[in-house]
Amino acid sequence: MTRPHPHIARMSPYALADLSAPEGKTLISLSQNESLRPPSPKAIGAAAHAMGTSMLYPDPDWTDLRNALSDLHGIDADGILCGNGSLDLIGCLARVFSGPDRAVLAPVHAYPFFQTAARMADARFDTAREMDVTVSVDALLASVQPDTGIVFVANPGNPTGTRIPKSDLIRLRQGLRPDILLVVDEAYGEFSDHLGEMCFDMIAAGNTVVLRTFSKAYGMAGFRVGWGLFPPVIAEEVRKVMNPNNIPASAQIAAAAAVRDDAYMRETCEMTAALHDQAATGLRDAGFTTYPSFTNFLLLNLGSPEAAASADRKLRSEGVFLRPQGGASLPHTLRMTVGSLDAMNTAIEILTQWKQEGQP
Ligand SMILES: Cc1ncc(COP(=O)(O)O)c(C=O)c1O
Repeated sequence: MTRPHPHIARMSPYALADLSAPEGKTLISLSQNESLRPPSPKAIGAAAHAMGTSMLYPDPDWTDLRNALSDLHGIDADGILCGNGSLDLIGCLARVFSGPDRAVLAPVHAYPFFQTAARMADARFDTAREMDVTVSVDALLASVQPDTGIVFVANPGNPTGTRIPKSDLIRLRQGLRPDILLVVDEAYGEFSDHLGEMCFDMIAAGNTVVLRTFSKAYGMAGFRVGWGLFPPVIAEEVRKVMNPNNIPASAQIAAAAAVRDDAYMRETCEMTAALHDQAATGLRDAGFTTYPSFTNFLLLNLGSPEAAASADRKLRSEGVFLRPQGGASLPHTLRMTVGSLDAMNTAIEILTQWKQEGQP
């Protein structure tokens, strides 16, 4: 009888969104932080064109995509690695820099996949408290252990939506031992780029990586393309554990076309911000509390785990799916992705009805 490695046997599968609408109800999903808008028409056109050469393996060096990103951000193309989604890169980083003798540290309400990546590498996963669902640099520094190997920080955070300024990230880097890898995951970075706090120059320290994705502001979650800027020595090690043909040719070509259509992505961010503010106002007017968010989602504070579970049941019974956040130690909350105004208004109406019914 074959047996899995014990640390894999101990793991639970990664919890994906449950999207099974009750019979007769139309599914409204506001649960996966997908974009409310399809990819740029230029990206779709480029992908369709690329399908004709799909008998060939994709470019293992993502050359055109790296050049497009390098031109847009003014960064060195050689430092860019692309992943099958940023999940791929997070997993590779955990495999290379953590393990039974090197722990992973993250804020307590961090993106749950950081923990999954640590478990896959058989590494201990430590957490640091947050302040008002916001990353605390002091708490992270105080939680570093002699065997800490990686610190993961998503900025802005998911599911919190909050962000810390670049000056705090620099203070974190300066306070960490040089042998600890700092991974700044900017999956939602494009939504706050207008604040002018790009972090790519932080990789100059030699022990910091900055990750981004095409799954959010670019509306390309289905293409599975993530990327990051890596110091050369780190990139060299990460490439050893990567699937050498990790991104389909059509996805690489589509992503490069999307990067070159920056105006479309910026417009998506503006539309998202406007809808985000409308939803936040609607929720506040209906008596709900949300946290500040610099992303394409809102985190609702329902007051207690029981209330959050009850509101979630009510929404699901109507076919509307938000995302409960017990997995990120926020069981009193539900996360709502910014979707169409109609979809969000439906969610707000159901929540209002739930409140009026005196739930839970
Ligand atoms: C903080 C964070 N990092 C990474 C990811 C994974 O993104 P991708 O689709 O690029 O794998 C997500 C997706 O929700 C996320 O919220």
